[in-house]
Amino acid sequence: MEAVTPREVSVQDEAVDKSTFKKCNQIAFYRRQKLLHPGKSSYRALLESVTLSDENVKFQIIHEENKVLLQVEICEIEGNIFRLKIDEASPLRARYKVRDVLIKEPTTQRLFISQNEGGILVLSSVNEDYKLQVIANPFQVELQSKGETILSMNSNGLLYFEHLQPKPTAENEEAASDSSKETQEDLGLWQEKFGSFLDIKAHGPSSVGVDFSLRGYDHVYGIPQHTEGLLLKNTSDGDAYRLYNLDIFGHKIHDKIGIYGSVPLLLAHKPNRTSGIFWLNSSETLVDISTKAVHGLSGSAAETAKQKAVPLTDVRWMSESGIIDVFLLMGPTAFDVFKQFAQLTGTQALPPLFSLGYHQCRWNYEDEQDVKAVDAGFDEHDIPYDVIWLDIEHTDGKRYFTWDKKKFQNPRKMQEHLRKKKRKLVIIVDPHIKVDPKYTLYSQAKDKGYFVKDRNGQDFEGICWPGSSCYLDFTNPEVRKWYADQFAFKTYKGSTNILFVWNDMNEPSVFKGAELTMQKDAVHYNNWEHREVHNLYGFYQQMATAEGLIKRSSGKERPFVLTRSFFAGSQKYGAVWTGDNTADWSYLKISIPMLLTNSMAGISFCGADVGGFIGDPEPELLVRWYQAGAYQPFFRGHSNMESKRREPWLFGEKNTQIIREAIKERYVLLPYLYTLFYRAHTAAEPVMRPLWVEFPGNIETFGVENEYMLGKSSFLSFDKSYPFSYLCSKLNFYDQRIRTILPWLCFLQIPVFQRGGTVIPLKTTAGKSTEWMVDTSYELHVALDTEASAIGELYLDDGHSFQYLHKKQFLYRKFTFHKSILSSRDESGQYQTMCVVERVIVLGFGHQPTFVTACSKDGKEKEVVFTYDTKTSALTLENLALSLAADWKICVN
Ligand code: GLC
Repeated sequence: MEAVTPREVSVQDEAVDKSTFKKCNQIAFYRRQKLLHPGKSSYRALLESVTLSDENVKFQIIHEENKVLLQVEICEIEGNIFRLKIDEASPLRARYKVRDVLIKEPTTQRLFISQNEGGILVLSSVNEDYKLQVIANPFQVELQSKGETILSMNSNGLLYFEHLQPKPTAENEEAASDSSKETQEDLGLWQEKFGSFLDIKAHGPSSVGVDFSLRGYDHVYGIPQHTEGLLLKNTSDGDAYRLYNLDIFGHKIHDKIGIYGSVPLLLAHKPNRTSGIFWLNSSETLVDISTKAVHGLSGSAAETAKQKAVPLTDVRWMSESGIIDVFLLMGPTAFDVFKQFAQLTGTQALPPLFSLGYHQCRWNYEDEQDVKAVDAGFDEHDIPYDVIWLDIEHTDGKRYFTWDKKKFQNPRKMQEHLRKKKRKLVIIVDPHIKVDPKYTLYSQAKDKGYFVKDRNGQDFEGICWPGSSCYLDFTNPEVRKWYADQFAFKTYKGSTNILFVWNDMNEPSVFKGAELTMQKDAVHYNNWEHREVHNLYGFYQQMATAEGLIKRSSGKERPFVLTRSFFAGSQKYGAVWTGDNTADWSYLKISIPMLLTNSMAGISFCGADVGGFIGDPEPELLVRWYQAGAYQPFFRGHSNMESKRREPWLFGEKNTQIIREAIKERYVLLPYLYTLFYRAHTAAEPVMRPLWVEFPGNIETFGVENEYMLGKSSFLSFDKSYPFSYLCSKLNFYDQRIRTILPWLCFLQIPVFQRGGTVIPLKTTAGKSTEWMVDTSYELHVALDTEASAIGELYLDDGHSFQYLHKKQFLYRKFTFHKSILSSRDESGQYQTMCVVERVIVLGFGHQPTFVTACSKDGKEKEVVFTYDTKTSALTLENLALSLAADWKICVN
């Protein structure tokens, strides 16, 4: 098969065709699970079988009709987490259990049995804050905190567990009547058809599922990635949220089909309490949501009548395979839930500083001359940027780790050119490998047996960009190691240490495959079927790539890897983006709730293609997208091959000017953004966060998705309506841009506000790239709260190595404004820098000061030049030259 040229990508065009993808009711395990309706569960717990150890409590449950025994394991994990596992007591063969996602085996705490009689088992946590009540018949588990039920499992009786069975013999099958054969086919037990595709289920049906009822909650979030709003909607039959990583070119918005990545973490929030459910299963998963108001969840009929309606959200998880392994994250705050999830799956990797700058991408920058010209264009138009990207066309016939020798004759020289300009290069490395015995990567992987196999034991072959391709089996640790070694400078010819990586098409994308991905009956390492690990494929590729980049630097340098496909825990390996969006206003709008959802699911380093990948944005849309992107964690302009060129200076001087302002604003903001990433890395606080996370008691904010917070301090509004005005009336908010702006720009900017009570560290000016700004001085924006106080912090390190971790080489400064004194003090770490704080702007300062002094630690005092604007109450202190690394105080009198 010849290489697929972009023009011929009709397979991708078809992807928009809805019939390429399954609707929920075309998914056999979903149809089977849906035959079970809410009601009395058929499971009964055998509480006489309870065993208790330091690690867990175990007992069995039995299905009253088929008599199959399941083993239940419950444990408490330190930090308000409960884990419930349900597996077959004696399965025909081991069922798949997700590996490599949990960063370690969680530390458990002993549970105590405080009751086991009358068909009720009560387990208490050490500190007695929590109680787990197991009701034997029908089997149900309730989790209570200080007497209040937070959630229950199987209260709707939807526990569903298909035990593994021997394949019916031919005689058995023949004995079955024709009609039951049809039913069998319809249920897709041993095989399932979709269009011309046949999925043969070698191990038969193995689906699992259960329901949770969240008491008092009617706001639920999470389970990315969908092109949906922030609040999860009620699903109706056939319209469940789908978690199944798929490559959907030109995906629609407001759709519950899974795109590219999946994180099976759901958050529920009610005033001042947040809980989470983490469903650790990597097979295809569907989630039904139903929020309602119920009367009287307990108590007598008379009491019930008196009670007010209480909201309740039912969440039903259904997975095609594996076991039930679920973590209940008890918060009680949203930040606690983020920490609990990170305790299990890891925190956001600390990005190298350059990767927080602006990235310029296109499918494709044609050749070395093109790269140089685009690079020069940025300087010529005085627009900062850090990274230029090369898409698939830079390779020799889509053979990754190679270069098109005509277009990129001297890739090292090109990189040296970029290095001199203090910029980086990112190249694409997809997981499919062109079938070509002369291509070393292919022949080596083939010889070593490193490809995923088809159901007949041959290397699985599918079609992707290079034409016929095989797919590396990243679930195999040996393959990951080998793959990581491909990034060694010696092996990857033409690569240098300014080259970083982009993993794409790793759902995996298989043109002409069922739903454009890999057959579920393909076979991986240790004989696991693809259906078990599907949602982990991209996770593993990014893991191996990040390891490769660390390894090539002998463990010294932080990697940068962007991935399209992801799973819970992908945050440890780099960044994600939302895939092939469209140059349309609606896609700009949806990017905000999509990124907020990814952020809540642990993946702070996320972004959407600025401008929209498909099509051509009108100039105003492009400009707006730059302004929005400048305040989103990953900031990359990207466009499709068929889109017109889109470098920021191609839309007239006025638009170039606005884009320049937006990008410069991003660069000035980097100290704050980098500090937020440090917080994400060390304390699991999402960089971009919905308003409700910062205002958890304020119901008005719970559904807001056109406004958000960047950290604690910055508030962005895409709509100057309620609750923006509400918040502003309750709290001090200030216009964050107080530098001079051309008047005609004002109305064109996205409003950004600084929350009273915070200090934001900024650079005084933007440079050509982050590296050009190392010595640039700092500016502090101090926004006072109603008590005339503010606090803030700054994190700083070398921006690229692991010395912050191994040698504590970093600065962590705390700024406090209290009783008219601004002080800077050292929190921890040490790092040499000549940088100074040049300017301080105090917003909301009540009066014109008489004099201002600055004193350093050694007692030296100097008078400070200041100006006070009575109209805006802004006090500006200039020419400070206070060392960033030292302690000092400024007293305003
Ligand atoms: C996919 C990616 C897109 C990339 C293209 C070619 O469509 O999502 O970003 O440009 O492939 O590699």
